[in-house]
Amino acid sequence: MDSITIQPATTNDISAMVDVQRVSPEASQWNTETYHHLLSPENQKSGGWVAFTGKKLVGLLVFQRPMLDELEILNLAVMPIARCNGIGSKLLRHALSTHRGSHVFLEVRSCNHNATKFYRHFGFVNTALRKNYYHKPTDDALIMTLQT
Ligand SMILES: CC(C)(COP(=O)(O)OP(=O)(O)OC[C@H]1O[C@@H](n2cnc3c(N)ncnc32)[C@H](O)[C@@H]1OP(=O)(O)O)[C@@H](O)C(=O)NCCC(=O)NCCS
Repeated sequence: MDSITIQPATTNDISAMVDVQRVSPEASQWNTETYHHLLSPENQKSGGWVAFTGKKLVGLLVFQRPMLDELEILNLAVMPIARCNGIGSKLLRHALSTHRGSHVFLEVRSCNHNATKFYRHFGFVNTALRKNYYHKPTDDALIMTLQT
C-alpha cells in the first residue's frame, strides 16, 4: 500500500468522504449538508481529517469541540479494503495530538466489536450505556471516554 498522508478535511473532500461512509454502514450516515456544516471554515467548533493513499481518500474522522477542553469524535471510517493497515489509528492519533489535554468522548454501537476494540487499544474506557439508543437495528450506545 502507498504511504498514508493525513490532511485537514475540507468541503472539497465531502463527495469522497460520503463514498467512504456509504461502504461503512457502522459509521454515522450523514448527508452532504451535514458535512458542509461540520467542515465549514466558519464553524470553529468542528472539523475533520482525511487519510489518503496516493490520490485516493481512504479514511475520515470528523470531530466537534463542545467546550474548549472537550473533543467528541463524531464519525470515523476507513474504506473496507484499506482497513487493518493503521489508517484509523493514524487519523485518531492526529486528532488526539492536535487537541492534547482534552477530555475525549464518543458513542458507538455496543455490537460494533471491531470499533470498541480499536478504541480500547487507545485507552478509551466505557463510561456509560444508553439503552436502545440506536435504531434499525436497535442497539445500545456505549459512551467511551479518554483523558489525554
Ligand atoms: C474502526 C475502524 C475505523 C478502524 O480502522 P483501521 O484502519 O482498520 O484500524 P487500524 O488498522 O489502525 O487498527 C488499530 C487497532 O484497532 C483494532 N482493530 C481494528 N480493526 C479491527 C478488526 N477488524 N478486528 C479486530 N480489531 C481491530 C486492533 O487492535 C488494531 O491493532 P493491531 O493492528 O495492532 O491489531 C475501521 O474498522 C472502520 O472503518 N470500521 C467501520 C466504521 C466504524 O465502525 N466506525 C466507528 C464508529 S464509532
